[in-house]
Amino acid sequence: MPPNLYGMRRFENKIALITGGASGIGRATANRLALEGAHVIIADKNADMADKAVAEIESDGGAATYMEVDLGDDADVEAVGRAVAEEFSALHVLVNNAAILRQGRIEDGSWLANWEPETAIGLRGWVLMTQVLLPMLKQEGAAIVNLSSEGGFLGRPGQWVYDAIKAGLVSTTKTMAYEFVDYGIRVNAVAPGWIVTEMHFGNHSDPQARKKELEETPITSCIMKRRAYPEEVASTIAFLLSDDASYITGTTLHVDGGRMGMSVG
Ligand SMILES: NC(=O)c1ccc[n+]([C@@H]2O[C@H](COP(=O)([O-])OP(=O)(O)OC[C@H]3O[C@@H](n4cnc5c(N)ncnc54)[C@H](O)[C@@H]3O)[C@@H](O)[C@H]2O)c1
Repeated sequence: MPPNLYGMRRFENKIALITGGASGIGRATANRLALEGAHVIIADKNADMADKAVAEIESDGGAATYMEVDLGDDADVEAVGRAVAEEFSALHVLVNNAAILRQGRIEDGSWLANWEPETAIGLRGWVLMTQVLLPMLKQEGAAIVNLSSEGGFLGRPGQWVYDAIKAGLVSTTKTMAYEFVDYGIRVNAVAPGWIVTEMHFGNHSDPQARKKELEETPITSCIMKRRAYPEEVASTIAFLLSDDASYITGTTLHVDGGRMGMSVG
């Protein structure tokens, strides 16, 4: 885990559940929240990666638990709701982070095969997860952060399903903020730019070569002219989850090096 530069412990005695916490942005967020004192529940499909994430947090002196879940499976999601209620007395933080990205253009219909798997997680699974955890989130008040994307604000060829999901997540974040405000629950979203994670190289025939290639490709789509590190998204998520953001709800924060609304090359 990176050093705790500011010595902040904003999540002491808090229980935090992160979907997709085994990799990429989710893993960086799990590390950050654990570093700041949270007991982190990593809810993920990939047991191998999740076990490694838990071991890393524990070896750094943090507390973490793995719960296996396929967000595309309602019964699995409901089982997580029951398991959290059995093991903990309240849930203070929820990060709806897991998603998958598939490519498919409209004209040739190649998107049709992506519809079910992408929406099962990205439109249905994360909302069901929030619903089943709501009784635990209501116990002592809570904060939720949902992962949108710059794609939710752009038109991009070959990614309409993903981008529509990420746009839908922004409006659903507002709905949740409204519906949960009286429970002392704040709900926000972040919309990151491009970060090289498993999402972009995991399914490649040579993942490490693809990762290197992506990392070395110059980026011109934002004014900072570099990609973000997962830790930079994690620190924004941690801010929104913390009492430092006590008057922020229903908003989406862009973490994109100056892309959205900017005139870039
Ligand atoms: N990487 C980027 O460039 C980028 C940009 C903008 C937004 N995002 C968003 O950030 C979030 C995290 O992305 P990432 O790049 O860290 O991805 P990643 O692929 O590195 O991690 C995703 C995690 O979700 C888990 N997961 C996948 N399907 C699941 C399922 N059905 N049930 C439970 N867990 C499942 C994976 O095992 C993995 O641990 C996503 O919502 C993504 O859309 C990513």
